[in-house]
Amino acid sequence: MARININYLNLKAGYLFPEISKRVRVFQKNNPKAKIIKLGIGDVTLPLPKQVVRAMKKAVQDMGTSKGFRGYGPEQGYLFLRELISKHDFGSRGVSIDPEEIFVSDGSKCDTGNITDIFGIQNRVAVTDPAYPVYVDTNIMDGRSLEYLPMVSDNNFEPPLPKKKADLIYICSPNNPTGIPATRAALKKWVKYAREHQSIIFFDAAYEGFIRNPAIPHSIFEIPGARQVAIEFRSFSKAAGFTGTRCAYTVVPKQLMGQGRGRQKISIHGLWMRRQTTKFNGVSYPIQAGAASIYSVKGRRETKKLTDYYMMNAKIIRKYMKALGLEVYGGTDAPYIWIRAPYNMSSWEFFDLLLSEAHVVGTPGSGFGPSGEGYLRLSAFGSRKDVENAMPRIKKVIG
Ligand code: MLT
Repeated sequence: MARININYLNLKAGYLFPEISKRVRVFQKNNPKAKIIKLGIGDVTLPLPKQVVRAMKKAVQDMGTSKGFRGYGPEQGYLFLRELISKHDFGSRGVSIDPEEIFVSDGSKCDTGNITDIFGIQNRVAVTDPAYPVYVDTNIMDGRSLEYLPMVSDNNFEPPLPKKKADLIYICSPNNPTGIPATRAALKKWVKYAREHQSIIFFDAAYEGFIRNPAIPHSIFEIPGARQVAIEFRSFSKAAGFTGTRCAYTVVPKQLMGQGRGRQKISIHGLWMRRQTTKFNGVSYPIQAGAASIYSVKGRRETKKLTDYYMMNAKIIRKYMKALGLEVYGGTDAPYIWIRAPYNMSSWEFFDLLLSEAHVVGTPGSGFGPSGEGYLRLSAFGSRKDVENAMPRIKKVIG
């Protein structure tokens, strides 16, 4: 009989979001009249920007002509997109990223999960807790153990440095799930740590487009010295509405090195290139053309409108939850609001209460790690109508 990867037996039964969907489905089946409002998974609800639709349509039409047809594209993404990313996402902030350091992909979920392929099993991993479950689950799949770095109200959501030397460190800013961004001082501290310990930081900036405070860095590469110690993950999913169309990218600086046999230094950029060219055939041309269109003047205006809409939802949720006397975090530079469950309820108790009494779905904080226990995350990605309808329902239950 074929032997399985027994590390999978160490995972929790189901991945967080399908697990929540399952509970919601059961509730809906038993309560067919309930009009459930979903503020759980961070999935966008507004349509794609017009510029994106136009660019995608044109690209598809081009593909239908012998002149415009394209077969396999470069596994790392078309240069036209990588040049735009380099110029607008980094150059405009004074950060120099070579287009060759950018790898276009079909999602940050895949990239943050797949990146561990190129790192040894013996690496010590540190993860801020609570965290996007992909970081933890993919390391468990590989058989690595992790050190959790608690981010809680007691430490102002600033995770401590690892107790044991960490080789790989996950940082997500603005943070999913707490909605709190890392300050420049905090990122400097991490870059210093990584340089001193020869660690590599996996910096997940999927929610960068929602930063509103001008003092918050958008990229870890704004911190001097980060090019030698960090990989950055970015996504078009949330800020440009690409959760269904799939496009993201990862920046791997050419200076970044890992240890090979003995003291041999190996280029991480080269390894990621090797991995991607072997296991990935690139994102389709129409999708990359759509992604490129958001860097036009009109495209940027439209995506700003999208993120402003969700940030207004976040403001409404924050205001309402605060007025109920709840402890509320995040939601000012990220589309997530992190709420302490009232009456000492556990995360799942609060989740169940909101689902059964208010017919509102959140995400239980404990699903993001031990330090998430006692919290619940509300997503600001719903429609305005849903957000506005959900608030009085929650008030009725806990007000
Ligand atoms: C979330 O709700 O945390 C995200 O939607 C998950 C994801 O982006 O995969």
